[in-house]
Amino acid sequence: MTVPMADLPAQYKALKSELDEAISSVMATGGFILGPTVAACETQIAAICGAKHGIGVGNGTDALLLSLMALGVGPGDEVITPPFTFVATVETVVLLGATPVFADIDPVHFTLDPADVAKKITPRTKAIVPVHLFGQLADMDGLRAFGLPLIGDGAQAIGAAQKGKEVAQWTDLTTLSFYPTKNLGAAGDGGMILTNDDSLAEKLRLLRFHGSGGNYDYHLVGVCSRLDALQAAILNVKLPHLAHWNEARRANATYYDTALANCDDLILPKTRPDNLHTFHQYTVRVSNGRRAALKAFLAERGIATGIFYPVALHLSPIYQERFMGKLGDHPESERACDEVLSLPIYPELSVEQRVYVAESICAFFGG
Ligand SMILES: Cc1ncc(COP(=O)(O)O)c(C=O)c1O
Repeated sequence: MTVPMADLPAQYKALKSELDEAISSVMATGGFILGPTVAACETQIAAICGAKHGIGVGNGTDALLLSLMALGVGPGDEVITPPFTFVATVETVVLLGATPVFADIDPVHFTLDPADVAKKITPRTKAIVPVHLFGQLADMDGLRAFGLPLIGDGAQAIGAAQKGKEVAQWTDLTTLSFYPTKNLGAAGDGGMILTNDDSLAEKLRLLRFHGSGGNYDYHLVGVCSRLDALQAAILNVKLPHLAHWNEARRANATYYDTALANCDDLILPKTRPDNLHTFHQYTVRVSNGRRAALKAFLAERGIATGIFYPVALHLSPIYQERFMGKLGDHPESERACDEVLSLPIYPELSVEQRVYVAESICAFFGG
């Protein structure tokens, strides 16, 4: 048996006729840029995530870039982010000439630790970018208490909620990615920005379209980053399935929680109380330096695993050099990079496959 980290062909097979028809209908109209298909996608996704506005953009990285631009982030500004994240969270800050200021993560939930953020705030702090890593929200009450603008990197958290409030209700701006393996994936790149603020939404609609309202009238210096109508059509077909896909991921997580409960050197992920987790990843910690051996053991049995992320960004060459990162600066992020291992959790994972994964892990630990 083989177990991949995602099975996109299986998802296509299940929805083939609807997807093919949606693609054909966009092809038949020739309306590839914005228009009603994109608008419908924006409205539906905003509603699911608790936002008034959805602004479809080219990918999750551009969603972060444009969010920072909409807040006016630029040279001289500082933006607080965790170093344990995908590079996009940080590179977009640097691209705008601002300085990323790293704050460490809470080791239990892998998200930005408000206590460390408190130590990093200066008069130049323009925004905080918590990452809702692996699919659960950061400690939002703790972060909101600072009263600074918040951009939630929700690339992995579509459908997540905390204390009964959906992901986009917690931050001024929330960014999504529709990278194919995300919980809601396009057939290529796609992203969205969510907000309840009318003026930020208006600014973002200009920014994604060269700063223009569409009539060669330039009000802002913008970029060209729009969600394709073809991708929106695909997302519109998949959207009604998101809730049960997220439910299937949670069921797989519950299964692993029980099946892996007694393995020494394995620390299972914890969900914050009152949090609805999307389980974009089910990420365990493997202690005592045994991660590489476990990964290799599983690979030999045909089981794929992922390391998200192997290097904390303050130690990654370009950011280390530019911002003088040192080993020991953010110990919890560094330790997470050495210990984390993500297991297959995608919705199409069969019962036989997840049993095989759990039994193989128990066999490694001598269970
Ligand atoms: C946490 C996080 N932020 C940002 C991104 C960037 O999204 P994209 O690949 O769509 O640009 C991703 C996805 O890869 C991500 O996981």
